[in-house]
Amino acid sequence: MSENTDQKAPLEHAPDWQLRYDECSTRWEREGINPAFLHWQGAGCFAGLESVIVPGCGRSPEPLAFARLGAHVSALDFAASAVVFQKQAFETAGLGAQIDEVDVLNWQPNTPVDALYDQTCLCALTPEVWPDYVRKIHSWLKPGGRAFMLFMQTGKEGGPPFHSPLETMHELFDDSLWVWPDEPYFRADHSNEKFELGVMLTRR
Ligand SMILES: C[S@@+](CC[C@H](N)C(=O)[O-])C[C@H]1O[C@@H](n2cnc3c(N)ncnc32)[C@H](O)[C@@H]1O
Repeated sequence: MSENTDQKAPLEHAPDWQLRYDECSTRWEREGINPAFLHWQGAGCFAGLESVIVPGCGRSPEPLAFARLGAHVSALDFAASAVVFQKQAFETAGLGAQIDEVDVLNWQPNTPVDALYDQTCLCALTPEVWPDYVRKIHSWLKPGGRAFMLFMQTGKEGGPPFHSPLETMHELFDDSLWVWPDEPYFRADHSNEKFELGVMLTRR
């Protein structure tokens, strides 16, 4: 259902995410499902989704939550232990999924999908590759497909996580390629004092 397109060399200055898992330095993780997921689910935004990609899935519970809603899930991460974690979680739940240890910048589904759920994958990437990443995810989606984006708000320089202000996101997710909903956007607070803004974008 996918291929590793190997178009780019691994980023030399990409943070060592596996090390963070090894050192239990995973302050981005939440207890349970992200409130933005629950908000979108409650609003019916996930109804009828047959295929969902979760890039930079880490050890989050949302890939399994999508599978429980009946979607075919592609969960991607380049940290080996995150992939092992997701495989075990799906096996324990008795559910299937495509779970790949890949660089999201070098991966492509065989066929475009209904939705993408980006829970702090973009902010984990260095801003210099954001345009490449956004082109990628546009190509992953069917026309009319949805990108459920959680834009990290740190208000600080540097990262990861890299601050993802709405003004910059508007430039990246250009109006000619994406439909933006009206504000206000859902605010997902985190116990680590950062918060994310949940924006459901529609691919044109
Ligand atoms: C901030 S964590 C978020 C993890 C998960 N979404 C969650 O909410 O717990 C970012 C994740 O993206 C993964 N990641 C970062 N850059 C990646 C890349 N280029 N390709 C694949 N995964 C990547 C990291 O390994 C890490 O698991």
